[in-house]
Amino acid sequence: MSKIQHPAQDITLQLLSVAGEMYPFIKTGGLGDVVGSLPAVLGQHGIDTRTVLPGYPAVLRALSDQQETIRFDNVLGHAVTLREGWAQGRHLYVVDVPDLYARPGNPYLAPDGQPWADNGMRYAVLCRVAAMIGAGALADWKPDAVLSHDWHAGLVATYLKYMDAPTPPVAHVIHNLAFQGLFPRDMMGAFGLPDQAYDSGDVEFYGQIGFMKAALQVSHRLISVSPTYAEEIQTPEEGMGLDGILRSRANVLTGILNGIDLREWNPLTDPAVFFPYAVGDLAARRANKRVFQAEFGLPQDPDALLLGMVSRLTTQKGADLLAGLAPRLFEDNIQLAVVGTGDRDIMQSFTQLQGRYPKNCVCHMRYSETLGHRLHSAVDASLIPSRFEPCGLTQFHAMRYGSVPIAARVGGLSDTLVDANSAAVMEGVANGILFSPTTEDTMLLAIRRAQNLFRQKAVWARMQRNGALHDVSWDSKGAQYARLLMEMTGRRPVAREAENAIAPRRSDPMSSAPRTVRPAARMPRGRNGEQVSSILSFPRTGTHA
Ligand code: ADP
Ligand code: GLC
Repeated sequence: MSKIQHPAQDITLQLLSVAGEMYPFIKTGGLGDVVGSLPAVLGQHGIDTRTVLPGYPAVLRALSDQQETIRFDNVLGHAVTLREGWAQGRHLYVVDVPDLYARPGNPYLAPDGQPWADNGMRYAVLCRVAAMIGAGALADWKPDAVLSHDWHAGLVATYLKYMDAPTPPVAHVIHNLAFQGLFPRDMMGAFGLPDQAYDSGDVEFYGQIGFMKAALQVSHRLISVSPTYAEEIQTPEEGMGLDGILRSRANVLTGILNGIDLREWNPLTDPAVFFPYAVGDLAARRANKRVFQAEFGLPQDPDALLLGMVSRLTTQKGADLLAGLAPRLFEDNIQLAVVGTGDRDIMQSFTQLQGRYPKNCVCHMRYSETLGHRLHSAVDASLIPSRFEPCGLTQFHAMRYGSVPIAARVGGLSDTLVDANSAAVMEGVANGILFSPTTEDTMLLAIRRAQNLFRQKAVWARMQRNGALHDVSWDSKGAQYARLLMEMTGRRPVAREAENAIAPRRSDPMSSAPRTVRPAARMPRGRNGEQVSSILSFPRTGTHA
């Protein structure tokens, strides 16, 4: 097609990425963030990424300069129009099947909070179309490799394996093993899978069809989103029933930590931040705390330890533990701000807490990118009490914005944070507070430790600084992805300067900007006020069902 150009730099590998969500078009969590930021990152390493997405209304709306690439009359019983185009710098193939995807709101859940009954078919069609592209269905483009994400894209490798054509190798990214995409065995025919795929164990998982299981079994490479998670999921405790197969495939399993987009998360330019600031500008952070407290209706006390949480409110995230612990926190001078949606019971607990402790606790039970950004620019510490956390992005957001993470010692959290034990504090290397196991009592002790450190202003400032200078970018992680994909396809990686960069990065405007930059502050509008409307905000609930 003529209108759609390749990126300018030397491209040595064509990659098809397949996922159920992609920021900034549709997102329920970190999966969307990663799928949305990887293409630009991989572009710096000679990889041209095109992403296949379901034709949700939000995705179709975002597509500009589009054209109908091809029509398939019958993909698992559905007529598919494949649309190709660009959306905010991302090259997309959108699988347009109104019967399956023309549903607003959360991509995976019906308005009653339950998974859509036809989710199996919705994501099987996505996988099938992606496999057809992989096998050469398009006249003008064929990928050299496929990167599939989570269970939604879990069948791509299986469809490719059972095709009578030369097909590209698949690397599957495990973002969260808790969501597996399990469907009844009698769907084999409807999914267009040969009996052999079941009988050989490729897709069979305890008598059902498992999309995630299939990906783990069949893909050429497996990537988990942190090195520690790669180890954890090989144990019966954390393997969610898939630890055996993961152990058997350990030789192709690699843990690569996520990064975040430093342009999206820059407190110097972020429109959601009242008083923009660079590293070390503690005065601006104090001012942000003050206006945030006012906006959220909390007493404007600089000495109160202000804790924040931006999260899906689920048991994975330990949100139930925090709700249970909160009354004990409020006996002290501690304030808590929560921005989140998720399990109904947990949301109710937080609403009740806000009613009982209006001077200590404020909860915004909704999805708001704006508040999510603003919170980290204002709170002293960000809570991440996860029971398990494959990677986690909020610790990166917190660190980047000068909020000290207080986190469970699991998964990607332990790969990122240096606990403020006395040795680390003495050495000046601490950047967070870790606790384990994940219980109310251990979290309480961690928060008490934080309170102590918070009173030691120089120590706290050092931790904030260490966090802000920690490399949370995609630079080195993108290089690891690129190396793996190049190796998988027998190519030589393209070395880039960024691969060896250490924080702070010269290109990072946050670390180099003059500290005096201070655009006029925008004052908040009140307790529920949403100041900035330009940042995407849409309803969501709490799972990747
Ligand atoms: P997970 O993907 O398991 O939910 P991550 O920490 O990887 O956890 O990513 C969560 C992403 O979703 C982050 O970008 C976080 O800021 C965002 N997020 C979660 N809940 C909300 C919310 N209520 N409002 C705004 N952003 C949210
Ligand atoms: C998952 C995980 C989270 C991870 C995200 C992006 O949703 O729960 O830990 O950061 O995917 O990889």
